[in-house]
Amino acid sequence: MRTRRIGDVQVGAIGLGAMPMSIEGRPDEQRSIATIHAALDAGVTLIDTADAYHLHADEVGHNETLIAKALASYDGDTSDVLVATKGGHLRPGDGSWTINGSPDHLKQACDASLKRLGVDAIGLYQFHRPDPRVPYEDSVGAIRDLLDAGKIRYAGISNANPEQIRQANDILGGRLVSVQNQFSPAFRSSEPELELCAELGIAFLPWSPLGGSSSAGELGSRFAPFAEVARAHNVSPQQVCLAWMLAKAPVVIPIPGSSRPETILDSVKAVDLELSPEELGRLDAAG
Ligand SMILES: NC(=O)c1ccc[n+]([C@@H]2O[C@H](COP(=O)([O-])OP(=O)(O)OC[C@H]3O[C@@H](n4cnc5c(N)ncnc54)[C@H](OP(=O)(O)O)[C@@H]3O)[C@@H](O)[C@H]2O)c1
Repeated sequence: MRTRRIGDVQVGAIGLGAMPMSIEGRPDEQRSIATIHAALDAGVTLIDTADAYHLHADEVGHNETLIAKALASYDGDTSDVLVATKGGHLRPGDGSWTINGSPDHLKQACDASLKRLGVDAIGLYQFHRPDPRVPYEDSVGAIRDLLDAGKIRYAGISNANPEQIRQANDILGGRLVSVQNQFSPAFRSSEPELELCAELGIAFLPWSPLGGSSSAGELGSRFAPFAEVARAHNVSPQQVCLAWMLAKAPVVIPIPGSSRPETILDSVKAVDLELSPEELGRLDAAG
């Protein structure tokens, strides 16, 4: 697969969003592992997860444990796989998502993720979401400490605005390698962050790039130009969506979620789908 860069690491230009394999509607473990193995077979080397990707209160890190198991049971080389996890969100088990961006919590969460992933240093550790009760510099300061301590190889942030991106990069001494924000045909307000990342050479990872699990299947019916361009190339509207994102800037690395081999295998083909300037213009206008 064609690659793009996160820090000094080249990763497949389409990553795997592993969240659907651990939250509401998740499949059984066998199907999840088959999905991760299919992604690896297809050249995916970026897997996005978080300690908060679980369902019940007593299974924090379900998704990280699943990924560690899938990597351990894969019969190919996994040394070039970058697992990107996050800390700062929690799921108390009632379906809600809560936030804790305190330095103490982030440091404990990182230690727990290290154990679950079974590594000496986490590939990419992302601060999941700003906590309004904790100064942003304190939360990102904890991520800097983890970087300095060698517990994480690379540092990223998520759900950040342009000011926070600049602030985080300063706090990290210019070592911010990625920003993960929501971006899809239905949700375009992260364009300024995408443009800033392109300017700074920081990877931009669109989350819910297909509109999220409940809407991903309807992308073509909700946004007609995506269906029209898909028909013209004889591919899926979802593939068109990912190719459209990749064309926005060389720093963009979408992380479509998947819980079936078929969907990630379809998504990775987006790296080879060339769209014309006219098509890209129609997709840009299809808001
Ligand atoms: N940082 C954050 O705050 C944040 C928030 C949300 C998500 N995320 C990350 O972003 C990732 C992606 O977001 P998401 O999972 O919410 O939404 P998404 O990627 O927009 O949609 C996921 C759904 O799309 C379907 N799909 C994937 N590829 C497809 C294809 N080629 N054709 C048809 N359907 C396809 C999958 O179906 P199947 O399940 O049937 O395979 C899956 O359920 C997550 O997995 C997570 O890693 C981060």
